[in-house]
Amino acid sequence: MSQVCVVGTGYVGLTTAVGLAHLGHTVIGADINDEKIATLQAGGVPFVEEGMADLLAEGLRRKRLSFTTDVATAVSKAEFVLLCLPTPQGADGNADLSAVRAAVKSMARHLAADSVVITKSTVPVGSAFEITTLIDRGDVMVVSNPEFLREGTAIHDFMHPDRIVIGAQDQAAAARAVSLYLKLAAPIVVTDPVSAEIIKYVANSFLATKISYANAVARLCEETSADVRDVLLGVGYDTRIGHEFLKPGPGWGGSCFPKDTQALLSLARQYGFEFEPLVGAVAVNDQQKARVVDKIMKLTDKKNPVVGIWGLTFKARTDDIRDSPSIAIAEALIERGAKVVGYDPTVENEIGQITVSSDPYAALDGADVLAVLTEWEEFRWLDAEKAAEAMRGRGVVDARNILSRSNWEHAGFEYVGIGT
Ligand SMILES: NC(=O)c1ccc[n+]([C@@H]2O[C@H](COP(=O)([O-])OP(=O)(O)OC[C@H]3O[C@@H](n4cnc5c(N)ncnc54)[C@H](O)[C@@H]3O)[C@@H](O)[C@H]2O)c1
Repeated sequence: MSQVCVVGTGYVGLTTAVGLAHLGHTVIGADINDEKIATLQAGGVPFVEEGMADLLAEGLRRKRLSFTTDVATAVSKAEFVLLCLPTPQGADGNADLSAVRAAVKSMARHLAADSVVITKSTVPVGSAFEITTLIDRGDVMVVSNPEFLREGTAIHDFMHPDRIVIGAQDQAAAARAVSLYLKLAAPIVVTDPVSAEIIKYVANSFLATKISYANAVARLCEETSADVRDVLLGVGYDTRIGHEFLKPGPGWGGSCFPKDTQALLSLARQYGFEFEPLVGAVAVNDQQKARVVDKIMKLTDKKNPVVGIWGLTFKARTDDIRDSPSIAIAEALIERGAKVVGYDPTVENEIGQITVSSDPYAALDGADVLAVLTEWEEFRWLDAEKAAEAMRGRGVVDARNILSRSNWEHAGFEYVGIGT
């Protein structure tokens, strides 16, 4: 078992740290955010992720897991340093590597001899070479190991990955990186760093395209009076296609798809071509959010309607609102004169001009329209009659197709789904 330092203890870093500790490694999580480190040291999880608190407690109890803000000392004792740093979208569409560069520059001279630096952040093509140059040490190896976990099922995804991708210049570095994950029963793809970096962008872009495809099919179903749920059920049983991500909704968002699709488009442009399928997928995604706004506004004749929104996070089972379609839709509604009150099981504070209620029915007080924008399971079981009592109007846009149309129509609602 190895001594590991995880640099950056956000969604990816903390999942990796608790996961590797569970596998038996000794892990130190290092982050520049004092508050986050203090919370983790006390056994608290700074964000919502199922199973995280238990694995964190296990790691701390077994003394396999610790946390620090002293990144230099932490990396100096590690055989493996895993970079789990943010790479937001830069002004030119490419991922902004400044956090990675800053961390690597400041840690380079502290790294232990013969250590391996592993990039788990999603980074632009060529980053492994850039990091190798920045470190500038013949005794330290650099490996690309992109992360594919999904928020909401991050722990499960760490323990049961579909595959592990290792991109390394030499076999010895690849073998050492593989050794970290030997207890996981997953296919391991060993390749060069550029291919590993491209795999991550292509995978996310393909998934985003699949959702956009489902949204385009939903539109076709609306025009032809077909039911998208049956259509995609029939299509997805084809094992060459599959049901995963073949679901219509309010459009994709979150901290990864928007920036990763832009990065792939930007990469192709650097080489003089348009990555056409993705150009279409992004256009459909933009249209989809606008279509949901139109569906909501069409259900009321009020000039300044009150809209209640159930679901503010970009997906269920997380508290992450980064680039959430719900927020984009709420902001577009506000721009068109609406007042928006949201409810989400994991969101407490106001977001800009969006008022946030702690109760799903209170969020509907005096509302003209209800819009269901995140697929939280609990929304299925909320009471249409109680919603009707709270609301002024009788419109509901179910952008995730999770409500029972008959229940809501029975309670007097005009129900509008996506492609149904
Ligand atoms: N969130 C996901 O679902 C997901 C999935 C796969 C890949 N990724 C990729 O993984 C990377 C990390 O994403 P995330 O969602 O975990 O980000 P995050 O914002 O949740 O976490 C990043 C952490 O890095 C810390 N940090 C910033 N600069 C630092 C420095 N110089 N030294 C030490 N710590 C520093 C921050 O304080 C923060 O805690 C990104 O490249 C992202 O694209 C994310």
